[in-house]
Amino acid sequence: MQVKDNTFLITGAASGLGAATAERLVAEGGRVVLCDLSDAVEAHAERLGDAARAVRGDVTSGDDIQAAVDAAIALSEGHGLAGLGLAGVVHCAGVVSVAKLVDREGNPADLDAYLRTININLVGTFNVMRLAAAAMAKNAPGEDGERGVIINTASIAAMDGQVGQCAYSASKAGVVGMSLPAARELSRHGVRVMAIAPGVFETPMMSEIPDEAAQALAAAVPFPKRLGKPDEFARLAEQIITNAMLNGEVIRLDGGIRMQ
Ligand SMILES: NC(=O)c1ccc[n+]([C@@H]2O[C@H](COP(=O)([O-])OP(=O)(O)OC[C@H]3O[C@@H](n4cnc5c(N)ncnc54)[C@H](O)[C@@H]3O)[C@@H](O)[C@H]2O)c1
Repeated sequence: MQVKDNTFLITGAASGLGAATAERLVAEGGRVVLCDLSDAVEAHAERLGDAARAVRGDVTSGDDIQAAVDAAIALSEGHGLAGLGLAGVVHCAGVVSVAKLVDREGNPADLDAYLRTININLVGTFNVMRLAAAAMAKNAPGEDGERGVIINTASIAAMDGQVGQCAYSASKAGVVGMSLPAARELSRHGVRVMAIAPGVFETPMMSEIPDEAAQALAAAVPFPKRLGKPDEFARLAEQIITNAMLNGEVIRLDGGIRMQ
């Protein structure tokens, strides 16, 4: 599937990995609907010009994501190749959370906080996949019978979770776990499903951790010894879109880091 003249939905597009992906896809001639809870998504879409639209929305809401999918179909009109409406989704919206099962004072973790992380990162991913896939299944098939591609964002925490990451790791392990069954199911519609598991990337999400901790994380990356740049994520998303043999797999993008 080519990027040029096709239309993509990017969630979490106001910031970090999603914002960089939207920028790259527009630079390559694609059209993008940027969806995010944050109102910063409107300014980012404006910066990207005519090929971009913003939809404020919550990835856990059926109505919000349906509105974003509809906006992508509307944006594609007169542009999609071979009858493609919504051609692809790069789902980046997510939250990070840290909480121990039992804290220093011996109190158990807050169950609502756990559910919130699972709801946004895991249920939100399922919500975006189901609505995007239903729209893509109606596309006219392109080369190889392809109708669409879905790229989810997991994390290396799905495999190498740290202390305090039960909720975050479980939510991302769920994203990893859905990749193959979703890819198998959607193959009959010509829709591919992939996930990217980033290591440690330089985004506003990471800026919440202290400088010293960020430096220690960068030093723990075998090569290159630095945090990942959002455009490196965007370049992998672009490669997944354009390479039809990538399907049903999770790609670690992490400079070789394996968390202790
Ligand atoms: N930055 C990293 O090092 C890193 C590493 C591994 C995985 N990830 C994952 O990559 C994804 C993007 O992270 P980022 O670093 O760009 O973070 P970020 O905080 O810069 O961006 C995340 C965006 O998601 C949006 N968002 C949060 N909840 C939402 C909701 N319910 N509905 C719609 N939008 C919502 C936020 O408003 C924000 O704009 C996340 O899923 C994150 O877990 C990031």
